[in-house]
Amino acid sequence: MKELAGLEINLNCPYGNMAVPSYWKNIDQVTELIIRTKKAARDKILWFKAPTAEYPVKEIVAAVQENGGYAIDIETRKFRCGSWGGGGYSGPALKPYAIMCTHNSSKNAKIPVIGSGGIVCAKDVIEHIMAGAHAVQVGSANLMRPDFMARLIEELEALMDQMHIESLDEIRGCAKYL
Ligand SMILES: Cc1cc2nc3c(=O)[nH]c(=O)nc-3n(C[C@H](O)[C@H](O)[C@H](O)COP(=O)(O)O)c2cc1C
Repeated sequence: MKELAGLEINLNCPYGNMAVPSYWKNIDQVTELIIRTKKAARDKILWFKAPTAEYPVKEIVAAVQENGGYAIDIETRKFRCGSWGGGGYSGPALKPYAIMCTHNSSKNAKIPVIGSGGIVCAKDVIEHIMAGAHAVQVGSANLMRPDFMARLIEELEALMDQMHIESLDEIRGCAKYL
């Protein structure tokens, strides 16, 4: 515990027995989990990964239709992942939905929101910040290149210079509707 800078509590894991409602759908259970974790974490930085499955599904369905959600190995004739054929969806195709989640979450939250989903370049980071994110989290891009984060930080600094942005505070949540 001493070595950890902070902890992410994942409230976004509906996997397992799909027939049983996920624990995060029970608000009393989630509240108790949050209270107990906060107490146990003491002075550690703590953030909670929000479940997104309660958002309107229209956008997810559209994204999955466009980009696929399942994959099949045509040699073995088996689904490539998950015991039911599918798996968590991540990567660039997720970004429009992720930006919506960041925007809606930050509009409603009184605590800082970490944007996550589809970040593969500095422009994506700026987009999440403009949608209201305090910080961002990167997943699958790190699996494509182990040095991704170092490159992203350099690219972000260069883009900020180019856009005459000194601090991300200047642009946080600045995006306006048309
Ligand atoms: C291999 C892999 C495993 C993941 N496992 C989990 C997980 O166990 N729980 C979870 O909430 N998200 C999991 N994710 C999702 C990521 O935390 C992240 O939210 C998602 O990948 C979107 O970000 P990205 O587009 O930058 O990858 C996983 C993603 C990948 C690529």
